[in-house]
Amino acid sequence: MSTWDTLRPVKTSLTGIKPTHLPHLGNYLGAIRPALSLVEEYRTLYFIADYHALTSVRDADDLRGYIRDVAATWLACGLDPERTLLYRQSDVPQVFELTWVLGCLTATGQLERGHAYKDALGRGEAPNAGLFNYPLLMAADILLYDTDVVPVGKDQKQHLELTRDAATRLNHLYGDETLVVPEALISEAPLVPGTDGEKMSKSRGNGIPLFAPPKKLRKVIMSIKTSSETLEEPKRAEGSTVYALYSLVAPEHAPEMKQKLEAGGYGWGHAKEALYEAVEAEIGPKREAYLEIRADEPRLDALLHAGASRAGEIAERTMQRVRAAVGIE
Ligand code: ADP
Ligand code: TRP
Repeated sequence: MSTWDTLRPVKTSLTGIKPTHLPHLGNYLGAIRPALSLVEEYRTLYFIADYHALTSVRDADDLRGYIRDVAATWLACGLDPERTLLYRQSDVPQVFELTWVLGCLTATGQLERGHAYKDALGRGEAPNAGLFNYPLLMAADILLYDTDVVPVGKDQKQHLELTRDAATRLNHLYGDETLVVPEALISEAPLVPGTDGEKMSKSRGNGIPLFAPPKKLRKVIMSIKTSSETLEEPKRAEGSTVYALYSLVAPEHAPEMKQKLEAGGYGWGHAKEALYEAVEAEIGPKREAYLEIRADEPRLDALLHAGASRAGEIAERTMQRVRAAVGIE
């Protein structure tokens, strides 16, 4: 028995991470850092949602790479595999059995109202069935592990509603003890701006890469858009991207930067330099750990498999309950 099995209190928190790109600073400040702090309060499961990524990633080598990039990132940022179950979604095939059962209890109308599916239609695309069924696979991800809370961003709220509906329906039809009905734990983490001041996001190309070499990191930070006052002029800190990022990375020193900007004689170049130093102080040691973990693929894969075999035991117990409840044994 490992530390994880004996953790009390035993409310379970679970979240999935889609391996669709290299993590950026927004992912770290908005998702990774807050999710890791839940370890104190919950029994935690984090998994790499590789089958979800397949709805959009089309290059097999890219996907293989992102899976390991994401796993190594979480480990380097402090995920302790003794205290948290870390695994790959695809290593626990019971998730597809539960997806099917939930699908048989979910009206297509509810999937048709899915934001991601509707947005794709709205853009004139022909969405694949994977995107249509995405919420069912996500519901199975959650329900398979008797999850109590799911820490996610606001954009995932609708998926949690569908998950709760499906679990409630199954319990109503087959018995209240079959599935745990989870709660969403909607993240309060602020939106992290990218180099252009808009929400940092992979698709906008405005990201500050998390583990780029220091030189590259500095270059990206120096490219952040600012207003064009002279060095001497006083500047508004509030509303500026550099200050917003600095407040997130080094909140304890933010008032000092604000005062310097507003006093004048302190340029945006100075502020960016301070931001670079602060990001490097937070990220530098993690980058070293990341490079080491990422380089040892056999060890990383073994760690994910160990997580999956323990996750698989929980999943199988749930599936036995579900199969018995619906009449398939
Ligand atoms: P992207 O938007 O770049 O494609 P993802 O969708 O992969 O990023 O996001 C993974 C996690 O990181 C989600 O929980 C999301 O809420 C969080 N996240 C992404 N971008 C930001 C941001 N700019 N600020 C705060 N959190 C973010
Ligand atoms: N859909 C989530 C996202 O895009 C990823 C995800 C897949 C997930 N399965 C999950 C999150 C289960 C929480 C629980 O970010």
